[in-house]
Amino acid sequence: MLKDKKLILGVTGSIAAYKAVDLASKLTQAGAEVNVIMTRSAQEFVTLLSFRAITGRPVITDMFDISSEFAVEHVALARRAQGVVIAPATANILAKLAQGLADDMLTVTVLATQAPVLVAPAMDAAMFQAAATQENLAKLKERGFTMVGPGYGRLASGEMGLGRLVDAQEIMDALKQVLGRGGDLAGRKVVVSAGGTQEPIDPVRVITNRSSGKMGYALAEAARDRGAQVALVTAATLPDPFGVETRHVQTVAQMREAILSACQGADAVIMAAAVSDFRPAEVAKQKVKKSPGREALTLKLKKIQDFFPEVPKGVLRVGFAAETENLVANARKKLREKGLDLIVANDVAASDSGFATDTNRAVLMDCRGKEEALPLMLKSELAERILNKIVELLKERGAGN
Ligand SMILES: Cc1cc2nc3c(=O)[nH]c(=O)nc-3n(C[C@H](O)[C@H](O)[C@H](O)COP(=O)(O)O)c2cc1C
Repeated sequence: MLKDKKLILGVTGSIAAYKAVDLASKLTQAGAEVNVIMTRSAQEFVTLLSFRAITGRPVITDMFDISSEFAVEHVALARRAQGVVIAPATANILAKLAQGLADDMLTVTVLATQAPVLVAPAMDAAMFQAAATQENLAKLKERGFTMVGPGYGRLASGEMGLGRLVDAQEIMDALKQVLGRGGDLAGRKVVVSAGGTQEPIDPVRVITNRSSGKMGYALAEAARDRGAQVALVTAATLPDPFGVETRHVQTVAQMREAILSACQGADAVIMAAAVSDFRPAEVAKQKVKKSPGREALTLKLKKIQDFFPEVPKGVLRVGFAAETENLVANARKKLREKGLDLIVANDVAASDSGFATDTNRAVLMDCRGKEEALPLMLKSELAERILNKIVELLKERGAGN
């Protein structure tokens, strides 16, 4: 998604300026053209040489430098930019942008650009909480700027507080979301479930499965980056994705309640979670003891009712079939019996596919009888293929109405 994107990275005079070097590197590795603009203060903290070497592009520091390719036409860079990130963003730059000042190359460029602007503030907690800074941020948000962070943690002053620059990955996720706003899922609401549910045996033990949640998270992030409003209901413990409304659950009953409520007004629900089929019939109130003479323990399990049929009509339903044998036949049966629009069948017996791996090999089957066997690919790539199919099915539905 960042490949070949023409980006501007504005770096300002914060102690966190050195972290922008890592961000510039990651953006460049992702295939973006990264044009760094440094304020005069930023150059007190880090040299332009680092950015130049990492991005392979000239670094702009001076609006009046006549040797710069952008000096004469001072808004040329602003015009060709597809996205602007200011990281770290000082209290000073936020104030200047809120006022619409144009006294250096960064402020001139932000004022002149039509591209979306993302700011990642970094400052002392007191500076961040200051009424002026809060008012400036509110003004910028109102004008369509997006803010990512700041995070909570140890600050340069040695104190703990809110003011840390968030890490490069979070800034990149936020940027992808900002750039994807006009994507093919813009205006759509997509609900995704992820992870393996846990059914309690006693207060300390559960029955669960090997699902890591990686596929569901990849889908949630990919849908977000295509412009969707995404609700993720997860039983996994991976970090919450930026820009995704995330709800954590453990049991099937909790997942059912969260999914059904998120499905109100949704266009599609993707059930990537591995939901338990059975739960202990009785949950012991106290920890089950390994008492003397007890050589075996019998657990009685009760079937859990599938809640897919309760998903409101009109919401496109996508299910997963994790199978260890007769993949296609079992998945087709599940597609029919559950009244799904699309099923993603994956063989979880293979070591490079299914649970806890970064790759997956799947067959996509839809309600019209179409079948597409996909080769082994990254879960992030598979997520895109599944979403392509969902976009196609949603379009057909729209055309049919
Ligand atoms: C050591 C040091 C660290 C600083 N760190 C920050 C910071 O993290 N955030 C911030 O808003 N200002 C910080 N400042 C103050 C800014 O550098 C100052 O407000 C400057 O005018 C910002 O200019 P710029 O926004 O044009 O880059 C720091 C100053 C010093 C001397």
